Amino acid sequence: MAKLSLKGGRKMKTIFSGIQPSGMITLGNYLGALKQFVELQNEYNCYFCIVDQHAITVPQDRLELRKNIRSLAALYLAVGIDPEKATLFIQSEVPAHAQAGWIMQCISYIGELERMTQFKDKSAGKEAVSASLLTYPPLMAADILLYNADLVPVGEDQKQHIELTRDLAERFNKKYNEIFTLPEASIPKVGARVMSLQEPTKKMSKSDPNKKASIKLLDDPKQIEKNIKSAVTDSEGIVKFDKENKPGVSNLLSIYSIFSGKEISELERMYDGKGYGEFKTDLAEVVVKEIQPIQEKYFHLMESSKLDETLDLGAEKAQKVANKMLKKMENAMGLGRKRR
Ligand code: AQP
Repeated sequence: MAKLSLKGGRKMKTIFSGIQPSGMITLGNYLGALKQFVELQNEYNCYFCIVDQHAITVPQDRLELRKNIRSLAALYLAVGIDPEKATLFIQSEVPAHAQAGWIMQCISYIGELERMTQFKDKSAGKEAVSASLLTYPPLMAADILLYNADLVPVGEDQKQHIELTRDLAERFNKKYNEIFTLPEASIPKVGARVMSLQEPTKKMSKSDPNKKASIKLLDDPKQIEKNIKSAVTDSEGIVKFDKENKPGVSNLLSIYSIFSGKEISELERMYDGKGYGEFKTDLAEVVVKEIQPIQEKYFHLMESSKLDETLDLGAEKAQKVANKMLKKMENAMGLGRKRR
């Protein structure tokens, strides 16, 4: 490992996780992924990646993509990722990812890739589907395996891809050489699947064109309040967690619970006999209270040179580790020449 990976005399476990710069980060990405990272960086050897090569599996505007990459990097730092503790980098700046991704594609079967829920969802009803939408899970497997990650903190939607990563790693280990650690997904108990505010049976997504469906981490307080107030609920008027029959209210309760640190049952008691209006106003308030300081840090970082310095250093550190593993993969398969 390129960085010191001992803590109190014991070997620190490694974490890898990535987020696509495919739009502005939502509360879903924040609660399902980013928020966990801040605590994990104290206990693990962490690699956090802006997976821009994943983002181009669907069409992107080049200027928007550039903006989103920078913006995502600043958000990682603004929520509390400390570059002294964790390695933050951009996927396309570490070429070993694409190289290892090709190798992982070569040991993947089309059938198993076609079974991925995200591929089915993203390709459904489309006439022209890029080949990369199908082959993106092997690239994701490469991202993780290059760092020998033990743990991958993700939202629930990515669980299937982590399972595939394990299958591919095991296949490689058996067929060529035992070089990969089998990673495990780490999924938060609450917040693993934040739902759309407009269609609460569908997950909240940063690329959802409906602006009212999500809360973006950089939305101003008025917009946050507006979107929460217009969130779809039901006509019952009872604040109660019931995912099946009250998906809208249950989603808001989950979000409220994480932001306030209060149990869902406590929130139900607090709003017993009160309507959705008060509940939504208070929820908007707790969300804004946590997000506002993040936004302040974000705008400051976007103006500072710290962002580029961190990303340069991150790419350098990541390259050292990734290139070593790539060499092992190539040697195991017999690619290239063996140096004498
Ligand atoms: N709604 C969600 N609830 C909880 N966690 C979520 N994540 C995504 N949506 C939710 C988690 O965020 C991390 C980054 O996701 P990603 O950028 O790699 O891609 P994604 O899962 O496809 O996220 P989006 O927002 O839905 O992006 P688009 O719209 O581009 O497809 C992952 O850990 C993910 O689990």
